[in-house]
Amino acid sequence: MSVNVSFINMKGGVGKTSLAMQTAIYAAWSGKRVLAVDLDPQSNLSQALLGPERYVKVLNAGKSTVVQLLEDYQPAGIGTGGPQPVTIHDVIIKGVWASSRHLHLLPCRLELSRVLRNPAGKERKLAKALAKVASDYDLVIIDCAPTESVLTDIAYFASRWILVPVKPEFLAAIGLPLLARSLEHSTKENDDHHIEMAGIVFNHGDYQPGPEAKASVGEVRKLAKDEGWSIFEHEVPHSKAIPKSAREASAIAHTSYARSGIKNAITGFSSELFQKIGV
Ligand SMILES: Nc1ncnc2c1ncn2[C@@H]1O[C@H](COP(=O)(O)OP(=O)(O)OP(=O)(O)O)[C@@H](O)[C@H]1O
Ligand SMILES: [Mg+2]
Repeated sequence: MSVNVSFINMKGGVGKTSLAMQTAIYAAWSGKRVLAVDLDPQSNLSQALLGPERYVKVLNAGKSTVVQLLEDYQPAGIGTGGPQPVTIHDVIIKGVWASSRHLHLLPCRLELSRVLRNPAGKERKLAKALAKVASDYDLVIIDCAPTESVLTDIAYFASRWILVPVKPEFLAAIGLPLLARSLEHSTKENDDHHIEMAGIVFNHGDYQPGPEAKASVGEVRKLAKDEGWSIFEHEVPHSKAIPKSAREASAIAHTSYARSGIKNAITGFSSELFQKIGV
């Protein structure tokens, strides 16, 4: 059965999507069956994994996305006679990445923000849909949006684990108390669903951190200790190879331009995550 993990932080731009993509690719490359779920209206994970041109083609072809999955149907097309029911099998895109057939994508589009205006009854829909394909995957990675909303609840219900990327900078810790309270609230309200914290991973820090970065790491470590959250041994440093490999939808471990430091950081972090969550 799949192990489901949400990459989440109430702070934006910390590397949720970048790490979700690299981890998904590394897992698929090492033979695990992986489903990457894009649960952010910005749809950056879909764009990065498919590449911008293929992504636009998918949208123009009217392919169903996570939006239709949460709304239970796809709108009537010409000659279809009315709205059509949709299942997770209609939404998953296979053959996302040329180097491995093990990586699939549940894509997103901007209209996911519609769900925010009409959230009633949507909280468990993704969880129920993923349960139907749980035996098809070893790992499900859910890339989350940076603000708290019904999408956060949807991610919680669909996940067993939470992974929190943090960028060591001024106000790095700002999203963490919010995340802690939100998790606490969800756990109290829903004692039938158990979520575990995999931990915090530092991403996008300098190789030689200055005083500001050091101070922020200290703040994050203190907050993590207070909450009983662990911090990953492996850190992912700043590297130009991260955006470049996202643009090319390539695995950092396979690129010629990435240095061994960043390659080892990605594989080290991913392996540490797999060990923690039992993949
Ligand atoms: N380790 C890194 N080295 C260099 N650039 C990075 C690194 N991690 C992330 N970035 C860059 O930082 C920016 C933000 O990263 P990303 O989109 O992954 O963050 P996010 O948390 O998903 O953002 P959002 O909250 O908007 O969804 C991107 O331009 C990405 O390429
Ligand atoms: Mg993102």
